[in-house]
Amino acid sequence: MKVGLLDSTLREGEQSPNVSFTIDQKIKIVNALDKFGIEYIEIGHPAVSPNIKKSISIISKLETKAEKVIHSRALKSDIDDALLFDTKWIGIFFGTSDISLKYKFGIKHKAALNRIKYAINYAKDNNLKIRFTAEDATRTKLSFLIEVAQIAEQAGADRFSIADTVGVLTPDKTSALVKEITNAISIPVHIHCHNDLGMATANSIIALKSGAKVADVSINGLGERSGIASLAEVAMILKLHFNVVNTWDLSALIRLSDELALISGIPNRLNQPIVGKYAFTHKAGLHTRAVIKNPNSYEGYEPEIINQNREILIDEFTGKEAIADRLNKLKIDYSHLELNKITNDIKKGNNSKPLTDIELLNFV
Ligand code: COA
Ligand code: ZN
Repeated sequence: MKVGLLDSTLREGEQSPNVSFTIDQKIKIVNALDKFGIEYIEIGHPAVSPNIKKSISIISKLETKAEKVIHSRALKSDIDDALLFDTKWIGIFFGTSDISLKYKFGIKHKAALNRIKYAINYAKDNNLKIRFTAEDATRTKLSFLIEVAQIAEQAGADRFSIADTVGVLTPDKTSALVKEITNAISIPVHIHCHNDLGMATANSIIALKSGAKVADVSINGLGERSGIASLAEVAMILKLHFNVVNTWDLSALIRLSDELALISGIPNRLNQPIVGKYAFTHKAGLHTRAVIKNPNSYEGYEPEIINQNREILIDEFTGKEAIADRLNKLKIDYSHLELNKITNDIKKGNNSKPLTDIELLNFV
């Protein structure tokens, strides 16, 4: 299948606490994402500040294969801002749940539909391609959400995006909802999943499998609160399990992730799936013995696909095969008896931390 990913590191990602990118960093991120082969890049919301507006003006001029999308409230002034730049796509959002209507806007359903219609009409009249997002869609009554989606399509939206703004979906609910919406409209459906329950990646994948055409992601899953679906996770799952034809450069994922961790100040967990330092680190003797013979024994996919390192640790959990493997690499000769003795000494020696080569040589 062919799907699209929309990276929102510059928009949603910059909404992470304590995260703010310089213009140079933003340019680097956009170029790296473009090289990776991402289909869409959300480049920011001009109304936020003069600084953000300036960065959008610079980034909108970068030549990329990816489509750039400008974020906008359903407001004439925000759409006018987007028109200042040479970008084709605008992402207009409006909260559609009862809680949004009551507390964000203080309006009733009919008035909300009118505001949505007006904003989409206005953007359409100004020749923009429009992705309309129903913010908090997943807490919106289904019948009203369908009405919103149909009004958005009639008004000229090119895409309809379902935002799980507070991350309440589960995969089964996501699948049912995406099917309802794709049956109700003919424009392609997008999905934006927050990770408040750790479900963002799973929900994004099942949404694509259930008929959505584009999923929002960010590098390292950065975003408001617990963030959104992670680019590396979504891209890898799609490549490994769903036979997507997209030509993404998966070997770029680790670098993208490491660089973003550095400039955002939000490090990855060591055991983070795919991009974490320990993603291919093997420790227990029974595992390492098998991995040395065939890495596939304890790896679901090859680290080479993403430029990850495989590591075999030696500590008190080790077995003699791991030690033999390390000694062979260090070109140290040993007899069978010596190998057994070194292994036993390491186990007796209170070695709860991984041994360096030098520490291992001390045992030898
Ligand atoms: N469509 C239309 N209007 C919207 C809206 C939407 N999706 N979401 C909020 N609004 C309106 C509210 O109705 C309110 O309008 P009012 O001032 O006429 O009552 C106003 O936006 C509320 O914004 P608030 O933040 O209180 O006002 P502000 O004018 O000081 O700041 C921003 C507005 C957008 C500049 C500021 O909130 C900001 O910088 N936000 C960061 C971006 C952001 O919030 N993104 C969320 C993305 S999901
Ligand atoms: Zn979001």
